[in-house]
Amino acid sequence: MKKFDRLQRFCLFLLAAALIVPTGCGESMPPQNTVSRKGMVVSVNDLATRVGVDILRQGGNAVDAAIGVGFALAVVYPEAGNLGGGGFMVIRFPDRPPTSIDFRETAPSAAHRDMYLTESGAVDPEKSLRGYLAAGVPGTVKGLELAHRLYGRMPWKRLVQPAVELAEQGFRLSEDQARSWRNMAGAFPSTFRVFGHAWDVFARNERFCQPDLAQTLIAIRDEGDSGFYTGRIAELIEADMKRNGGLVTVQDLAGYRAVERQPIIGSYRGYEVISMPPPSSGGIALIEMLNILEGYNLADLGPESPETVHRVVEAMRLAFADRALYLGDPDFVDIPVEKLTDKTYADELLSQIQLGVAGRSSMFSVSARGSFFHESHETTHYSIADSTGLTVAVTTTLNGVYGSLAVVDSAGFLLNNEMDDFTAKPGEPNLYGLIQGTANAIEPHKRMLSSMTPTIVVRDSQLVLAAGSPGGPTIINTVLQVLLHSIDFESTIDEAVSAPRFHHQWFPDVIDYESDRFDPLLLRQLEEWGYSLNPVTSLGKAHALAFDALNKTFRGAADPRGKGSARGY
Ligand code: GLY
Repeated sequence: MKKFDRLQRFCLFLLAAALIVPTGCGESMPPQNTVSRKGMVVSVNDLATRVGVDILRQGGNAVDAAIGVGFALAVVYPEAGNLGGGGFMVIRFPDRPPTSIDFRETAPSAAHRDMYLTESGAVDPEKSLRGYLAAGVPGTVKGLELAHRLYGRMPWKRLVQPAVELAEQGFRLSEDQARSWRNMAGAFPSTFRVFGHAWDVFARNERFCQPDLAQTLIAIRDEGDSGFYTGRIAELIEADMKRNGGLVTVQDLAGYRAVERQPIIGSYRGYEVISMPPPSSGGIALIEMLNILEGYNLADLGPESPETVHRVVEAMRLAFADRALYLGDPDFVDIPVEKLTDKTYADELLSQIQLGVAGRSSMFSVSARGSFFHESHETTHYSIADSTGLTVAVTTTLNGVYGSLAVVDSAGFLLNNEMDDFTAKPGEPNLYGLIQGTANAIEPHKRMLSSMTPTIVVRDSQLVLAAGSPGGPTIINTVLQVLLHSIDFESTIDEAVSAPRFHHQWFPDVIDYESDRFDPLLLRQLEEWGYSLNPVTSLGKAHALAFDALNKTFRGAADPRGKGSARGY
């Protein structure tokens, strides 16, 4: 960025900070770029964002706000917000080492390696994507409860109550929501009972209420996680599973555990990068790519130069190949975390990159070839910081948009289709993009590998930024590019979030890039170096925040690719 531009931007930033007003806020759109002094919440849905800010205002900390936002999203954003899914939370404290909470779903005890194969041995994607057999044991309620028990400050009931009210009293739908909810509702009768009337409610300008979901949330509010994992809700889940060919039992639910894990911590040009460990592949792949890229002077090469894209793509290729070979549930497979995140190993990888020539995915790690599998691009991320600098990055998902499409009858929430994130048939490619090895094969109680990459960056004990995104495997590369823009190219967080993105995931050996956002000369140069290019509409929807240590202000950035909001106070 030119110096003059930077000065201009800095002055505008100071002005906005002094006024503490949201910027970039249209009348019909919630604020997407906001500056505030005391805290910041950035999420995909403005009702949920407001719940988080209210909790901060009432004296809750960032963990409390994250719990409130998580439950609110389960009501207002059934596309990915959830009670029936799972996710990851990375927490950075101002005064102690960071931590993470793993609430990834697990395979039910009756699951087995070949459960998604047909009699002829072919993968049946319908079985792992749609309906009750696609669901893993949900982790979200346990995860939020564990985060609260360890690090929350406000009473649990006050954190769940806003979601109860949203479900009981309802809220107005946008036209897009009403259309989408009605269209997906036909999948199962129980889903139709909850969402089938969405369009009529919208057309009558009424509030959309979810009485069954409200009762489920009241049980969680009053009984904590046992209100979900035991008793009436657990029995409703099991009964629905039995009626519809699913595997999750009351014993699976009672046995589910969320886990506090040591985060993956790396360094990049003097910044500390804190991210999610396995069973997410995100943190390891992110640090591996950053370690490789530290060997280049990207700042001099510029953000959208062919030289930078070339180097970043090669780092992506190498990290995704290792992801396929090594990564899975750490409770089931040995993962060489130290090696993969080691800078000497990154130097070895860097020496394999031939500048001016596109690498070839088939040239290395061939033994890693497992099966292609599809990772959904529907997930959601929220970032929260409070006035103490306590910062929380949460990525949560049902996997596909609306998960398995199956609502638990009389309980009002959608089940995940996260079983599709396992390797359905190790050793054989199928239709879709990403390759995995046997480390991620299905086993009872195992967690499926994820790409979710909730990440926090710190420098000299000061918060720098928090970020994450939906997007299946593109999540990792979206977060990488937000970090590169912030650190190497000195962009503000909203510039970093909105900058054009590209993606390479080892196989297929092709660069996806956001069409109409890159210079044709850059694309031509990449083709001359031997790359295959694939234009796509958009990659990721990052929700990020940054802290300006000089001015002691937070800046929130909801991705302009989506309709999320950033609010502070
Ligand atoms: N289901 C998407 C992910 O976990 O990466």
